[in-house]
Amino acid sequence: MNRVKIAPSLLAADFGNLQRDVEMVNKSDAAWHHLDIMDGLFVPNISYGMPVVKAIAKHATKPLDAHLMIVDPDRYIQTFADLGVYLLTVHYEACPHLHRTIQAIKAAGMKAGVALNPHTDVSLLNTILKDLDLVLVMSVNPGFGGQSFIPGTYDKIRELRKMIRQQEASVLIEVDGGVGPDNAAKLIDAGADVLVAGSSVFKSEDPKGVIADLASAVIS
Ligand code: DX5
Ligand code: ZN
Repeated sequence: MNRVKIAPSLLAADFGNLQRDVEMVNKSDAAWHHLDIMDGLFVPNISYGMPVVKAIAKHATKPLDAHLMIVDPDRYIQTFADLGVYLLTVHYEACPHLHRTIQAIKAAGMKAGVALNPHTDVSLLNTILKDLDLVLVMSVNPGFGGQSFIPGTYDKIRELRKMIRQQEASVLIEVDGGVGPDNAAKLIDAGADVLVAGSSVFKSEDPKGVIADLASAVIS
């Protein structure tokens, strides 16, 4: 069984010390840097855009996992590829032509992910699962860091794991929102491959220690 990947969300980093925080992630047990892009339309918040992604990419030594919470993400696929993004995730709810969007992400040389809002049923991905590299299950309503984990997420992960097994698909399950040392083991047990953690890492006294704890979390 593969080890769980940890993707610290830089949304919770200290933007006045962004280089320092990116370098902390570089030196930690994290697998990826998670970048949250919000446009104030798809979600009620604006996070950061291309100049900040460029600054992060300059210092990051691990793959960039970009989570687009924006309308009409097709407009920016090539831009994120040019910035060096490894995996680009778009929201199911923002993509009326999801198949086309996924093919465009792959054609630009990136891995392709689809994110599901908490109310969006995993079964809606049945016909596209085999085209995906990752499904991001939102465990809070997207738009803000520091929210409480929604417990219904465990069942969604289990159902998705079952779909992946049935289709013999090669797709990672990523969970995002309210993730920390208290629920990591249970999420891994349910079938999560990648854990995104913002506040639990960056608001801690020992961010590297929290990342290490998450990376080695097991059901006791
Ligand atoms: C929420 C973002 C998350 C967020 C997670 O819309 O997609 O990646 O930064 O932050 P925490 O871990 O604080 O819930
Ligand atoms: Zn995210």
